[in-house]
Amino acid sequence: MRFRFIALVGLSGALLSACSDGPAEDADRVREGQRVYAKECAACHGARAEGAGPASLHLDVVPPDLAGLKQRNDGYFPREFVSRFVMGQLEKDDPSSPMPDFSAVGLRHVYPNGGADGEVLETDFANLLNYLEAIQW
Ligand code: HEC
Repeated sequence: MRFRFIALVGLSGALLSACSDGPAEDADRVREGQRVYAKECAACHGARAEGAGPASLHLDVVPPDLAGLKQRNDGYFPREFVSRFVMGQLEKDDPSSPMPDFSAVGLRHVYPNGGADGEVLETDFANLLNYLEAIQW
């Protein structure tokens, strides 16, 4: 499976230097991640990642909650698993599952008018993972 992970040199530089910033910057990244989540994931996984969002009505498989990932994984947020799963790098139990492969579809709701359409930017993706990690029970 093709894995398109676009690292923008400027953005990565900004992100690296931002890593040493304080809690306010962390909060900004989580907020940005929430924005990505709301546009790309909430329809299926629920507004607060509680599972079974409004779009589930049309699906055969109910999208699980994403707030209990840590609890279901012995108290550790499975960042690497989530990352690979979302980017279509893990084989699915059910190949016909409606869960999109975001390395193929990109963040099309965040960038409906082009821009990063069709690509998943490293910064957006890292923010999304930070958000998910922040909302674990
Ligand atoms: C079209 C509906 C849909 C959208 C949009 C969607 N998902 Fe999913 N997702 C599912 C379904 C259905 C499953 C369960 C079936 C499966 O595992 O493939 C799932 C499973 C998952 C799992 C595995 C959870 C577990 O406990 O094993 C993760 C992680 C996940 N999705 C993350 C995301 C993230 C992050 C986004 C947004 C970037 C997203 N999903 C967008 C439908 C969706």
